[in-house]
Amino acid sequence: MDKFTIPFFPPLEEYHIQLEKVWNNEWITNNGPLLQTLEKEVSEYLGTSKMSFVSNGTIAIQIAIEALGLEGEIITTPFSYVATSSAIKWQKCTPVFVDINYSDYAINPALIENKITDKTCAILATHIFGNSCDIEAIETIAKKNNLKVIYDASHCFGTEYNGESIFNFGDISTCSFHATKLFHTIEGGGIFSRSSGSIR
Ligand SMILES: Cc1ncc(COP(=O)(O)O)c(C=O)c1O
Repeated sequence: MDKFTIPFFPPLEEYHIQLEKVWNNEWITNNGPLLQTLEKEVSEYLGTSKMSFVSNGTIAIQIAIEALGLEGEIITTPFSYVATSSAIKWQKCTPVFVDINYSDYAINPALIENKITDKTCAILATHIFGNSCDIEAIETIAKKNNLKVIYDASHCFGTEYNGESIFNFGDISTCSFHATKLFHTIEGGGIFSRSSGSIR
């Protein structure tokens, strides 16, 4: 069968070097040294504040919603992976869909304000296929209406916006490190926030 895509495989010898460290220190769970090194190196490489690794990109969105204490309606995009809206439902909030631009498939900010009600608590927008949303327009609407902003940046490892990592925007940005992504950990996800301290 033809393969639709092949994930990145590091040279096996390099992978073994990392595995040897794990075998030697016998620490494979609970914030072990390899995880700590990876979090530090990813943050330094991207120029973000300290990021947190989690088990996948779906739980990263759920933790973002939980961490911001969101309740009520969350404005989001219908054009994303299902996890963007399922995370909202899992967190017992209500997704309110706003249509996308047909030029870049990102949420159309001009249609957001019409959907804001007194129950709206946040905007959860996806930077689709590595292209950024209209971050300035979304921030302006969020500030004016006192809303939190989460970006599902699962497709955006390495994407820059105004010369810095796209993960530095919004209250929280999340990423997926699933094997289908540009940078992957087989399964995994990340949470990035400008607010001080780790999310964990
Ligand atoms: C836009 C988007 N959000 C969220 C996810 C969920 O990530 P994961 O599969 O790591 O849970 C994906 C994964 O494909 C995605 O593409």
